[in-house]
Amino acid sequence: VTAAADAIRRRIAAEGPLTVAAFMAEALGHPRHGYYATRDPLGAAGDFTTAPEISQMFGELLGLWCADAWIRAGAPPRVLLVELGPGRGTLMADALRAARGVPGFRAAAEVHLVETSPVLRARQAETLRGEAPAWHDDLSAVPDGPMLLVANEFFDALPVRQFQRTERGWRERRVDADPATGGLRLALDPAPSAAEVLIPESVRRGAPVGSVAEVSPASRQTARAIGERLAAHGGAALVVDYGHDRPGAGDTLQAVRGHAYADVLDAPGEADLTAHVCFASLADAARAGGADAHGPVGQGDLLVRLGIRERAEALTRRHPGRAAEVAAARDRLIGPDAMGTLFRALALTPAGAPAPAGFGPP
Ligand SMILES: C[S@@+](CC[C@H](N)C(=O)[O-])C[C@H]1O[C@@H](n2cnc3c(N)ncnc32)[C@H](O)[C@@H]1O
Repeated sequence: VTAAADAIRRRIAAEGPLTVAAFMAEALGHPRHGYYATRDPLGAAGDFTTAPEISQMFGELLGLWCADAWIRAGAPPRVLLVELGPGRGTLMADALRAARGVPGFRAAAEVHLVETSPVLRARQAETLRGEAPAWHDDLSAVPDGPMLLVANEFFDALPVRQFQRTERGWRERRVDADPATGGLRLALDPAPSAAEVLIPESVRRGAPVGSVAEVSPASRQTARAIGERLAAHGGAALVVDYGHDRPGAGDTLQAVRGHAYADVLDAPGEADLTAHVCFASLADAARAGGADAHGPVGQGDLLVRLGIRERAEALTRRHPGRAAEVAAARDRLIGPDAMGTLFRALALTPAGAPAPAGFGPP
């Protein structure tokens, strides 16, 4: 039994069954026992690998995207370069290195990292030594100003609430203690919940009995805050994650441990938990905050439009011995059977701004 499971069972004993969102928040974010609080989960020795850890090209192209958006915004003398959930700091380091080629950008950019994990903050401090980043627990703590924001595989870690369609209507799913096994089990609320209104109308109507709907109030709140900041101060945001473009029913909550799928309830705090990002819901929330949404487009399409093929060729010319490695990384990032289509990119800008690089007509 994990320390996080103990903490969760004590909370259930005190408060009753937890929403799936509260369970996810405990398992991932508990300040002492949570998954992210206790480890660096990235890379071959960890539980999963992300795009910036596959190749420097990913962060470099996103850095150039930011520098381009800065120029399009009139090259303000001070711009906040914000990353949500920066992992090991790899994306930001690659982005800053690439964007140094754009005159004036590095001097204008103030680096702000939104990160809750002390282990990963330490790792980011090492990777970004000399770049003077500032850390924050939440976007709301980042100062005001024109902002370029990137978030790769951040929203999929934010908690989701789940509802299940029954014969008698929608019921919220909860995580309860299982007296028979001493473990945890899923249960349904006996009564309808006012929170049911969070389910998109198109999903709520017509879903057959047994369907599961997911909503992520935390994701919506963050997307709205991004939209409000862009509307008030200008800039652009780029969100890359795996998920679906339109709302749909389905239980997408999954646990990954040691690069393999695991049971969601089995070892809270020891396995990564994620849910598919609903890009329509992020876009809606950002629009409600006053921004425009562009895309989503496939990660492969975006990276090709930003020049990943040319960047791979340049790297290969400079390091001929790494040709096979560079080609394999490029294909993993853009391949339709790899990350190219499943991963989606959504851009946010102030309302009325033209589409940023990679999102307009080719
Ligand atoms: C899946 S990792 C992705 C890391 C990095 N973006 C990458 O692509 O390698 C998720 C990141 O988000 C951070 N994180 C998760 N939940 C968070 C929250 N609620 N607030 C701030 N950071 C969070 C994690 O600690 C980690 O840095």
